[in-house]
Amino acid sequence: MKNTENISVSFMLNDSPQTISVNPLRRFSEVLREDLGLTGTKVGCDAGDCGACTIQIDGEQHNACLTAAAQLEGRSVLTVEGLSNNGNLSPLQQVFLDEGAAQCGICTPGMLMAAQSLLDQTPNPSEPQVLDALGGVLCRCTGYTKIVQAVLKAGQSSSTSSAPEIENQHSEIKKQKYVGTRMPKVDGYKKMTGEEIFGADKAPEDSLWLRAVRSPHPRAKFTHADPEIVLQKFPGLVRVLTADDVPGNNGFGIYPHIKDQPVLAKGHVRFRGEAVLALVGDRESVESVTDDDLGLKWEALEAVRGWERALSGKLEPVQSQIPDNILARGFLKKSDVEKAFSESDIVVEGQWTTSAVEHGYIEPEAGYARKIGQRLEIFVCTQTPYMDRDEVAQVMGLEPEQIRIIPSAVGGGFGGKLDLSLQPLVAIAAWILERPVRCIYTRPESLSSSTKRHPVRMSAKAGCNRDGKLTAFEYHGDFNTGAYASWGPTVADRVPIHCSGPYFVPSVLAETRALLTNESPSGAFRGFGVPQGAVAHEALMDELAEKTDIDPLEFRIRNALRKGDRTATGQLLENSVGQVECLEALQGRWRKWRADAEVFNQNSPHIRRGVGCGSVWYGCGNTSLSNPSTMKVGINAEGKITLYNGAMDIGQGANTIMIQICADALGLSATQFEFIMGDTDLTADAGKTSASRQAFVSGKAAQLAGEELRAQIIRLAEASENSNLRLEQIGTSDGGKLIVKDEAGRHEIILADILPLANGDVLIGEGTFDPPTTPLDENRQGSPYATYGFGAQIAEVEVDTLLGTTKVLRLAAAHDVGKAVNPTQVEGQIHGGIAQGLGMALMEEYIQGVSENLHDYLMPTVGDMPEIEVILIEDPEPLGPYGAKGIGEHALIPTAPAILGAIKHAVGVSIHHLPATPDRLFAALQAADSE
Ligand code: FES
Ligand code: FES
Repeated sequence: MKNTENISVSFMLNDSPQTISVNPLRRFSEVLREDLGLTGTKVGCDAGDCGACTIQIDGEQHNACLTAAAQLEGRSVLTVEGLSNNGNLSPLQQVFLDEGAAQCGICTPGMLMAAQSLLDQTPNPSEPQVLDALGGVLCRCTGYTKIVQAVLKAGQSSSTSSAPEIENQHSEIKKQKYVGTRMPKVDGYKKMTGEEIFGADKAPEDSLWLRAVRSPHPRAKFTHADPEIVLQKFPGLVRVLTADDVPGNNGFGIYPHIKDQPVLAKGHVRFRGEAVLALVGDRESVESVTDDDLGLKWEALEAVRGWERALSGKLEPVQSQIPDNILARGFLKKSDVEKAFSESDIVVEGQWTTSAVEHGYIEPEAGYARKIGQRLEIFVCTQTPYMDRDEVAQVMGLEPEQIRIIPSAVGGGFGGKLDLSLQPLVAIAAWILERPVRCIYTRPESLSSSTKRHPVRMSAKAGCNRDGKLTAFEYHGDFNTGAYASWGPTVADRVPIHCSGPYFVPSVLAETRALLTNESPSGAFRGFGVPQGAVAHEALMDELAEKTDIDPLEFRIRNALRKGDRTATGQLLENSVGQVECLEALQGRWRKWRADAEVFNQNSPHIRRGVGCGSVWYGCGNTSLSNPSTMKVGINAEGKITLYNGAMDIGQGANTIMIQICADALGLSATQFEFIMGDTDLTADAGKTSASRQAFVSGKAAQLAGEELRAQIIRLAEASENSNLRLEQIGTSDGGKLIVKDEAGRHEIILADILPLANGDVLIGEGTFDPPTTPLDENRQGSPYATYGFGAQIAEVEVDTLLGTTKVLRLAAAHDVGKAVNPTQVEGQIHGGIAQGLGMALMEEYIQGVSENLHDYLMPTVGDMPEIEVILIEDPEPLGPYGAKGIGEHALIPTAPAILGAIKHAVGVSIHHLPATPDRLFAALQAADSE
């Protein structure tokens, strides 16, 4: 492509004639984004697998990444930027916004274009037609349910909506009552139009490009040529960074005492995909330099793979300072489990293994860094700006205050963007070269270098009495943490607490180990190991139910945790324990679905149906650790209200619900709020977006901030507590004024009369909340979480016994969320969690060197999703904002157990290695046949 002459290409682009001089072979996605500035078209894979780049060419949907620029000659192109009209959303965009069809929004432009193409040809499509049209576009957040609903609705309605969408929506909401309403996303408009700025969508004009060079071996020694020699050969290269260029500590990690992962490896790599060098220069040069050009010489070493080898002691340890490869241990003991088993009427046990699972966010890691004076500014997609700031500072040998993290919109995270990726690389390059430096991971690079869900090898045992009351539970799990610690110790610690499920069990023993291997580092992924553990406890519940001849759902109800029970850590549950309500809410469907399956199976020898159940409980927040959040809300002289929101919105909707909560606490209209998200110079530390903590912890902080600002206003007005507040004259030259009305009359506060604070606001309210927990004793007894979310799901599957395939037909999910601050968003979280749980159960398995692209790594598409019904249970949590607690991780946890239980019900075989791919299920069926 380098030597190809540019040609002139003329085409229509969003109804305007366009002529460009371009390399005829260039990807059109790149031309749109880099040359024409139309970054609404996203790139998730550059290989035709994700559909994020879907555009219309002559009315048909096409992948812009697979379209060469020359192919556009004489054609007509429509991109997402061409859908809206003078700032007014198209009917389809409006329905997407109204229905909550976008979460992170990175797939939204592609989805919209695919859907619009269908609607142009088939104005009122059927559901199968919608599924067919959207089949090429992946979404990792929504579970597709609301997207399909939106397209069907758009087809059924020919009405157009031309007014500004957010104002319109909000005006229908009763003033000063936002919590509990389906307020559309406050950042939804930009997600619809393609204006939202993700990590790859922006960089200073004079930015250099950076590409990391990565190991093709899981374990190897290596040498490379002198960087100066490489630079002489490639004039477009400005720098070849090596480990010696790291100014501070060449090691990062999430724990203060473990900084084991090098920014750039020095002479020795521990996993395939580890960064060894970084090339900085013009884009063409950094992309064209080969490993040979760099004089890279590898001496491959025997790799430690899997649990057996990690513990065999026969190979050199992965990290020399940990000779037995046991990075961390977890433990829990409640009462005498051995005695309890000996006194139990029935005891069942089993072993299971699960695979590495990829987060699969559609937005690959991207961002840039630039040096400003003696500070570094880093624009990046992240779940945790303050942790990034502190990590980059120690890698750079700078003070944390010298680093500013400006988060981009985040195109999905799910725990995978909690660890550093490109941040230290672009930081080092920008600091040394004093030029802005940007980096966008390719999809294979993202897959090979990022963390995964821990594969686990586990055994578990459960006992009960003849009347079906649980007596004892024991669990042992070896979690494959891969080459570096990442979140391995957290997983080892969290699993024992949750491994006996949402049940009252008098005696529990649990042991876990996080093992180092030469595989991808395993980190945080929606549930921190708890989804894997749930596979074991739910399979054992089914078995005990069978042995006691009790219906599986009834068995769970009998044993469910209730108010007044003590958990496995001995914590007394006093409030917000909706487990029984969740299970009972599913009872009617359960009976009907089971009866339906029985009828179906009577005349279907090869296609068999079954219905299974899974339960979940999950502690919101960090385990027995302080995890505070601080939020601020300010009003300036013009009457502009800004929520300074440090709680990263990664698609789950933190930007919106924090405003809903704060607006209610303050007593002003949510439609008047603006927000700043995650900028470490402008927002306080709200902690990381993980552990299902933001709605609960940061939500409470937002409530407190709103209440504090309200109190200030009422004091200033010398009005009473029950006053009604109103903001007037926003943005006029007169400035803003607050009208405060109480029983005594009307009071006015002229905002311009108040001396501005350092940030320009005249009034600021601040709230901090740190959920109360206690340290755990040597048996891990205590109160590790301030609150827990509960839930249950039932799934109906259809198994083709001749092929081994499983199709999930329908799924009902009941979750106790305390209070649904925004039911649309809560439903969206549940749908998305179910999609990821379905993937974990049936198809997702990351294999290094094999599934490093989205063609070979299978994730659920729209066609894989069942019909989903969500039931929200609201047992209020007194500590939470208006009763709310978390849901982000809870929704995924019971899905795989429910599906596996349904398979067992359908065909009588238990799957003990996840995912239950057709080959595994077929082999299990054959083995069962031959018994
Ligand atoms: S970027 Fe084109 S299909 Fe993924
Ligand atoms: S909303 Fe679809 S990938 Fe995030």
